[in-house]
This record gives sequence, structure tokens and C-alpha cells, in this order.
Amino acid sequence: MFYRITFVALLLVAILGSCTEEPQTQPARSEPLPDSVTFAEHIGPIVWANCMPCHRPGSAGPFSLISYRDVAKRAKMVAQVTADRYMPPWPADPAYRHFLGERVLSQRDIDLLGKWAAQRAPAGDLAAMPEPPHYPDGSMLGKPDLVVTMKEAYPIRGNNTDRFLFMKLPFEIPQDTFIRAIEFVPGNRKAVHHMNGHLISFDPAKKKDVFAGEWVVDREVVPVNEAYPRMGLLQDDGSYPSLTPLVSNYLPGVTPGTYPEGIGGYFMPQKGAFLLNDLHYGPQGVDTFDQSTFNVFFAPKAPKRPTMELQMGTLGISDIVPPLIIPPDTVMTFRTRAVIRQDVSLLTINPHMHLLGKSFLAYAITPASDTIPLIRIPEWDFRWQYFYTFDHLLHLPAGSVVQVEAVYDNTRDNPNNPFDPPQTVSERDGSMRTTDEMLQCILTFVPYQPGDENVELGE
Ligand code: HEC
Repeated sequence: MFYRITFVALLLVAILGSCTEEPQTQPARSEPLPDSVTFAEHIGPIVWANCMPCHRPGSAGPFSLISYRDVAKRAKMVAQVTADRYMPPWPADPAYRHFLGERVLSQRDIDLLGKWAAQRAPAGDLAAMPEPPHYPDGSMLGKPDLVVTMKEAYPIRGNNTDRFLFMKLPFEIPQDTFIRAIEFVPGNRKAVHHMNGHLISFDPAKKKDVFAGEWVVDREVVPVNEAYPRMGLLQDDGSYPSLTPLVSNYLPGVTPGTYPEGIGGYFMPQKGAFLLNDLHYGPQGVDTFDQSTFNVFFAPKAPKRPTMELQMGTLGISDIVPPLIIPPDTVMTFRTRAVIRQDVSLLTINPHMHLLGKSFLAYAITPASDTIPLIRIPEWDFRWQYFYTFDHLLHLPAGSVVQVEAVYDNTRDNPNNPFDPPQTVSERDGSMRTTDEMLQCILTFVPYQPGDENVELGE
């Protein structure tokens, strides 16, 4: 059979660490461009909303794009990267599906940037500009109830290579409680490329010391099944603790979202740990270090509608067809599909592939044969793997089939191909090594309630 008809409502996931941020693009307008495009009037607002979240001191972008001088001296490059839609990075096609915190320039913005560069970047009346917006470096959500910090500063060698790590941030609190929101705050915003974190809950009777074991393991070297015992993530009797996956996800420029009242939230165990399942430090030219933290915001009560997760493909509930083996010099399409057994309301979608990914498409077919677009990524970029949040709860009726189509390019034409000449690349026990492949589509949802389709997500 092409698919398994199981529908596993795993876990009590909640707040996605996801995309909500500043408003961005103006709707496309057909009026002609002004004769004179200036920084003060036109360019500043575009750059502050769409570029500055990452291009500011201490953030992920390689330089600041805030002041007139910052932008004017790079006007041509800015015009180029925006015309190519390389920046701001937002791989999902906004014509297929809108998401929260979408950072996509309108064609008019792009034209304005192009015309401004062609006119040699005039300043305009800078004195009339407002102050640039304030993007906080600490918490975006307020004062946390608990802060869990990396054991020590992790040293990152300046040898220009990517690092992919498992890391454990254990904690012990006086009693079990509930969580309203979790926020990951990178210590070194230049170095932390992305992070996906799980929450581990130990049975207090079966776990003496949550701090025992290695706190960091190189995931490109150590397989998951070895990493867990080495990191002291098993209980003292060898059993597995319970794990709530993906309670926090980080990418530069993305603010952790909080759901509307009543949706999302987690159980917070007395003895537990955040497991950074996939911590990626980007290549660094000089030796540096990172010490990141989680801010935890408590809730007085158990979540009314805890979120759940459906994971398709690698390590998930649905098979990949054909099996994910990509011979050299081929461009191949793989599919995976899952039947949704109950009415659900989707919150987020996270497509995942590695370096050979070329494009990604997911949609649902309802029992009435309607197609519900979920996400389309025309040009896959493995560096920008968002947990995309739908702008409102998206209802999938029971019996809908979620269909995923992923294309991989294992030819020399793929500049990200890790092998030259190309070699057979495949899935290997869910190995996260970037030189192995994965095909995953992770959906978070709550069971459907009438009226959900009118519930907007985000502030
Ligand atoms: C989500 C974070 C993010 C946002 C938003 C963002 N950038 Fe970037 N930008 C980066 C990172 C990281 C790099 C360096 C790595 C790379 O090139 O991918 C970069 C690189 C660049 C470069 C250098 C490209 C090169 O070839 O060296 C330019 C120019 C640039 N950005 C302009 C912009 C402009 C203009 C905007 C807004 C319209 C923008 N960026 C928005 C993160 C961001």
C-alpha cells in the first residue's frame, strides 16, 4: 500500500516557536513609481521592516541595514538580492499560501529598491524620519518565570564549517506546572543558525540526577540511539522518559509565536530537560562561543487545547514512495501521504529536506475532492527551514488526504550537492547528517471545533 492509515496524535505540543513578527509588505499597488525615490520616504521603511530584524548589530546578517549610510553603500547589492528574491529569505510561495510573519517584498518594493539604486541612492529628508524600530535582544515576550541556560559557553572553532549538535539543558523545579510559552534566546545570534528543541519529562521516581551525562554531542558523529544514553536522557532503569517534540524552534528573524487564549501550552515536569535536537551553528571565520537560554512562561492551568503533531515521512507515520534513495545524476520526485482520520485544525507546517532538496509541495484533498493548498516551496533552501504558521486555523475535514511531493536534485547542477562527483544519497536510520537525506513534513494541529476557521493566529 502506498500509505499507512494511521493517524497518530502524538503528544502535547503547544506553542510552536514560530513565525510571527513585524508587519511587512504593503499590498502591491499599480500606481507608477515616484520620480524621485528616497531613503527617507520609501526605502527606510522597507528595510526596517524586512531586513533589519536580521541585519542589525549582533544578529545573523553579515552587516547592518539600518541607517541611510548602511544601505546606500550597498544599494546595488540590495537591489540585486531583492530582485532575485534571495533576500529576505522566505522560501514558501506566498501565491500558494500565506503564513504569519511572512516576510516577502511586494513587486513594488522591489521596483522601488531598484529605482533608488539606479538613481544613486538619494537620502531625502533624513531629519523627518522616525526612529528605527526597536528589536529586543532579550525576551520578546516579557519577564520569564524560569530561565534555563546552557551549562557553559560552547566554544565554536573559527574553521568555517557547519556544526550540528545535540545539547541538553536540564532543569529541576519544586513541582510540576504548566507552560504557556517557551522562547529560545540565542547567546550568539551570529553563530546560531537554527535550533529545534524537545521537552523531556522524567518520572521523578525514576530519575535521580537530571544533570548527569554529557551535555553536548556532535550529531554528525553520534547516532541518536547512542546520543540519548550518553547524554543521560534515559531514566535510571533504562526506560525512555516522555518527550514532547518541537516545543521550541528558532531561526534568525523569527519571533516565538503565542497562540490565542485556550490553544497550546505544555505540561512542565518537575524534573526534565530541554533537548536541543538539532542545534546548527553556521560557519564562523574566527573562534567564538555561544551560551543560549530558554525563557519559560508558566500557565496556571493545564492547556485546554494542547497542540498535537503529525509527522510524515522519515521517522514518521507515512512511508516515502519510492524509498528515499537518490542515485547520482538524477532529479527524482518522492511522495508521502497520510489520511487524516478526524476533523483537525492545522496550526503549523514544517517541510524538511537536506542539501539535495529542490522543491517541496504539500496539499490536502478533502473527501469532497477539494484541494486545500498547504505549502509550496519552488526553490528549496536548506538554510531557511521555517515552522510556517498558518494565518488562521486551517480546517481539514476527517478523511482528507495530505499529499507531499518532494523533488531532489542529485546532479552536479545542484550547487549544494555535498559530493563531487555525485554519489548515491539516501535516508539512513533517520540520520540527520546533512550528507544523508530526509523527507519530512511535520504538521501541528488541534482537534477541530466549530468556528475554528474564524480563529486568527498571531497577535
Ligand atoms: C531572516 C534573516 C534575514 C533577513 C530578514 C534578511 N537577511 Fe539578508 N542575509 C541574512 C543572512 C544570514 C545573510 C548571510 C548568509 C547568506 O547570504 O545567506 C544575508 C546576506 C545578505 C546579503 C549579502 C548577500 C551576498 O551575496 O553576500 C545582502 C545584500 C542582504 N542579505 C540583503 C538583505 C536585504 C536587502 C534584506 C531585506 C529586504 C535582507 N537581507 C533580509 C539574513 C537575513
